[in-house]
Amino acid sequence: MDGNGRWAERRRRPRMIGHRAGARAVNACIDFCLDRGVQALTLFAFSSENWGRPEDEVGALMKLFLNALESEVQELHRRGVRVRFIGERERFNDAIRARMQAAEALTEANTGLHLSIAASYGGRWDIAQAARSLAREVAEGRLRPEDIDEAAVGARIALADLPPPDLFIRTGGDLRISNFLLWQLAYTELWFTDTLWPDMNAAVLQQALDDYANRERRFGLTGAQVAGRQHETS
Ligand code: IPE
Ligand code: MG
Repeated sequence: MDGNGRWAERRRRPRMIGHRAGARAVNACIDFCLDRGVQALTLFAFSSENWGRPEDEVGALMKLFLNALESEVQELHRRGVRVRFIGERERFNDAIRARMQAAEALTEANTGLHLSIAASYGGRWDIAQAARSLAREVAEGRLRPEDIDEAAVGARIALADLPPPDLFIRTGGDLRISNFLLWQLAYTELWFTDTLWPDMNAAVLQQALDDYANRERRFGLTGAQVAGRQHETS
């Protein structure tokens, strides 16, 4: 979700105004997903690297995050959204951690939309934490090194219970992944837009889905193989 700062700067307003407008765009995207029956939405809210921003911006973002947790979770629950957080939770303060846990517990049984908020998240952190848990299991004698394969890593990475993402959307005009779901994005379709995050709306999301619908996903196979498979399953 990139471009909040630039959105505000273009209006000669403080960056935090952009972050607040960005929080409203989050609601628009969730509405779109609920409306269109999207199964899972993962939002990159705050990266491992974002902790390095100026102290006042990090502090204000934490306040905004806590406010959003306090004001939005009930409504998400009412709408059948299951909320979870992925990332290095230990870095947040007690109040935020408690709210995150409460939101997850409250919405655990919901099936309307799997909403994952990546906060203090980095794809490299995710791979490292999966490696750490594998190492622990080996050290405790519960796993043999020769049993560590892609499925074993995949089972310990964030969002392991969901299918890999079909579509990655980056706003704000930059053409990079910036340490988002590195493992999970292996065969995800990438889509980039110059739209700044606070301007994100149903029309832009629809454009992303329309483009996605025209992609041919081959997963390393040939076009003919893929066409054959579609023929078999239809
Ligand atoms: C994304 O907007 C929000 C966070 C990273 C928290 P930015 O703050 O990166 O906005 P730009 O890139 O400065 O416009
Ligand atoms: Mg940015």
